[in-house]
Amino acid sequence: EKDGYPSFMEKEINDQPDAVAATLLGRSDLEGKLTLDEMRIDPQVLKTINKIIVLACGTSAYAGQVAKYAIEHWCRIPTEVELSHEFRYRDPIVDENTLIVSISQSGETMDTLMAVRYAREQGAKTISICNTNGSTIPRESDAVLYTHAGPEIAVASTKAFLAQITATYLLGLYLAQLRGNLFQGQIKDILADLAKTPAKIAQVLANAAQIKDLALSMANTRTVLFLGRHVGYPVALEGALKLKELAYIHAEGFAAGELKHGPIALIEEGQPVFVVVPSPRGRDSLHAKVVSNIQEVRARGAMTIVIAEEGDESVREHAEHVFYIPETTTLLAPLLTTVPLQIFACALATAKGYDVDQPRNLAKSVTVE
Ligand code: F6R
Repeated sequence: EKDGYPSFMEKEINDQPDAVAATLLGRSDLEGKLTLDEMRIDPQVLKTINKIIVLACGTSAYAGQVAKYAIEHWCRIPTEVELSHEFRYRDPIVDENTLIVSISQSGETMDTLMAVRYAREQGAKTISICNTNGSTIPRESDAVLYTHAGPEIAVASTKAFLAQITATYLLGLYLAQLRGNLFQGQIKDILADLAKTPAKIAQVLANAAQIKDLALSMANTRTVLFLGRHVGYPVALEGALKLKELAYIHAEGFAAGELKHGPIALIEEGQPVFVVVPSPRGRDSLHAKVVSNIQEVRARGAMTIVIAEEGDESVREHAEHVFYIPETTTLLAPLLTTVPLQIFACALATAKGYDVDQPRNLAKSVTVE
């Protein structure tokens, strides 16, 4: 069942090109027109939505954070992301013009289920992004968009995460199509970029040895920091979570711009810092900003490990280690930049002799509140 891999986790990391491809399959035609069969909410109703709230926990909530950037950019609908267990207890503003998008691999996470029930009672429309056919959350939602990652056995989520991000892109493009926020040609171009990502993920996987070697050399590390901006920020959070869960190493992810507001005080000689660098071809001055963040931590002694786009030579002089990912657009980059961080955590945990499929204290689906 592990297809010759030493763990389900490694198998599932390597399944990711297929997980993303399967999630994209059959959802658009050659003109780039999306038809989401399981989207059982009346298109007229979706046109009147004036707010989206994404509800999820853990890794799935990080997929939601990526979704916020894409959906707001493409659809111009205000989008919040909230942890399911916080949402329900704060008297949130939800009505019939609110679209709730829940994200859950298992479809059984009690906190998320209760949050969805609460939102429905307030009249909101609910869409479930889920990896488990027929599970409770999709059954209790108005519509479902299944991720087709295949069963995820390892407790820590990997392929489901990339499939969730993919599904939220499809949802964002569908809403943009319906509401006329993007031209059909633009949607077609983005779908074409998406269709290229499975092969690019495979390229990242083919370079796994480089990141595994680094992980082996860091087996005695006590704390690791992860920095990112824009969609790289949730990727940094996910990189830190994987390391905590699998290798039991203290790790924290930060929005790189937040450094000078406190966390930079943590940096001392030799502190490992991963930095997720956006494409230099992207909008705004995002790339330059992140490069200056790398310089800031390095000037204080950090050991910098940089994930950057192929051809971005500007980061080399600031980094102890550089891992290149294939070119893609700013918004789609998380499908690629996450992968080296998963490989790193898995390899480091394996080097320490831990069971990566069954980390201590964790359960695959959290069916208690
Ligand atoms: C982390 C992880 C968890 C889950 C979270 C939500 O690797 O697996 O953080 O993402 O418990 O689970 P689902 O998506 O099943 O609702």
